[in-house]
Amino acid sequence: MNEKVLDYVKNNQDRFLAELFDWLRIPSVSALPEHNGDVRRAGEWVVSKLQAIGFENVGLKETTGHPAVYGDWLHAPGKPTILVYGHYDVQPVDPIEKWHSNPFEPVVKDGFIYGRGTSDDKGQVATHLFALESILKVTGRLPCNVKVFIEGEEEGGTGGTADFVTANRDLLACDAVAISDTGWYSPDLPTIVYALRGLAYFHVDVFGPDRDLHSGSYGGMLQNPLNAVAKIIAALQDADGRITIPGYYDDVVELTELERAEFRKVESPEDQVAREIGVPVLWGEKGFSAIERNWARPSFDVNGIWGGFSGEGAKTVIAAEGGFKVSSRLVAGQDPEKVAVQFKDHIERVCPPGVRVKVTYLHGATPVMVPVDSPFITAGQNAIEKTFGKRPVLVREGASIPITATFLTELKAPSIMVGYGLLEDNIHSPDEKFKLSHFQKGIECGVVLYEEFASVSR
Ligand code: BES
Ligand code: MN
Ligand code: MN
Repeated sequence: MNEKVLDYVKNNQDRFLAELFDWLRIPSVSALPEHNGDVRRAGEWVVSKLQAIGFENVGLKETTGHPAVYGDWLHAPGKPTILVYGHYDVQPVDPIEKWHSNPFEPVVKDGFIYGRGTSDDKGQVATHLFALESILKVTGRLPCNVKVFIEGEEEGGTGGTADFVTANRDLLACDAVAISDTGWYSPDLPTIVYALRGLAYFHVDVFGPDRDLHSGSYGGMLQNPLNAVAKIIAALQDADGRITIPGYYDDVVELTELERAEFRKVESPEDQVAREIGVPVLWGEKGFSAIERNWARPSFDVNGIWGGFSGEGAKTVIAAEGGFKVSSRLVAGQDPEKVAVQFKDHIERVCPPGVRVKVTYLHGATPVMVPVDSPFITAGQNAIEKTFGKRPVLVREGASIPITATFLTELKAPSIMVGYGLLEDNIHSPDEKFKLSHFQKGIECGVVLYEEFASVSR
């Protein structure tokens, strides 16, 4: 039966790509309000697709943010129910001048599909939609029950979709969640991700004098708010790369020797990574390898600093105010709400005299870790091995997919992260791309994946 389905996949690859292109042309940037209509249109594209392939109860589901898409096919009694999750929203395109082609006019070049959302995440979601189409068109049924749930605000970190999940537990009830929104550890190493980091995101304002001042007339008399920004940032991390916020590491689940040994098997040489990203040497918390820090240790990164004069030439001025944004990635055991309080308290404590500081916690995500012995992970490994000819490694990931924590707590369902991206895909950056063969083989893999999921006993 599979052979016929896989033939259908092969015979329809050109049309699949053309359909994906239509979806990619919709600039569904969830962060920018002027694109709200486009975000909705990209959701409606999924609605039409699900209806066309024979899904039921298909529709846009309103949330307090951007709408999500739901549809189901539930005619496999006794078989597991798989929730397919992904997101149809994309990141902003800036800096637009760094793109070599229009981000919303996808093109294939050198074996890659270029465009915003190709790898993150429309191209990956599409592998599931086309796999489901192929199975249904050829066999008239699916091997297991499938619910499709594609959200429109993953990239923004807003919680509307998570609230929808909490309020619709029965609708979304499932045995496991299938997600293709991650990548391979390296181009020849298929990968299943079993843990994602969480996140706490902050906006910090520092206020000084009630207006900009002449740095000669007033310099030396007061705390400069931008100097204070630097002092505060410097007080958040020590020279050994440890975050100095009291209690920050209290809940961090320490790595076991077994995990460290597993990581060592896959990690790339650190000098090679340094070369790839164009830095002289990697750096971070003492006592841990780069991959250990990325996968299993909390991070502290300033995302932007503002204030004062940064134009050409010199301007002798003491700015009235300044500030910065910080993201801190969290690991298993840490709670973003608790971290947010620690962070705020610490900044208020270290803020130097003469300025006022205001800390705003913008959003957070709870870290997740899926038990590696889940039979659904084994099913994912089988599907990848059968399709790509290599058994995937099980690794952690430094990035976040916030709603996976909600799936775990509200639906009690593990997320099985079978992704097809590559590190070189430039997600969130100019020239985002997705390997064409991964798109095409991803569809084949989807076909096998649902069969493998179906054989997991409940
Ligand atoms: N698909 C990514 C997460 C990802 C990136 C997984 C790289 C594996 C490899 C997702 O769309 C994303 O960008 N998440 C954000 C979440 C944030 C906005 C709360 C992230 O990690 O920054
Ligand atoms: Mn994504
Ligand atoms: Mn993303």
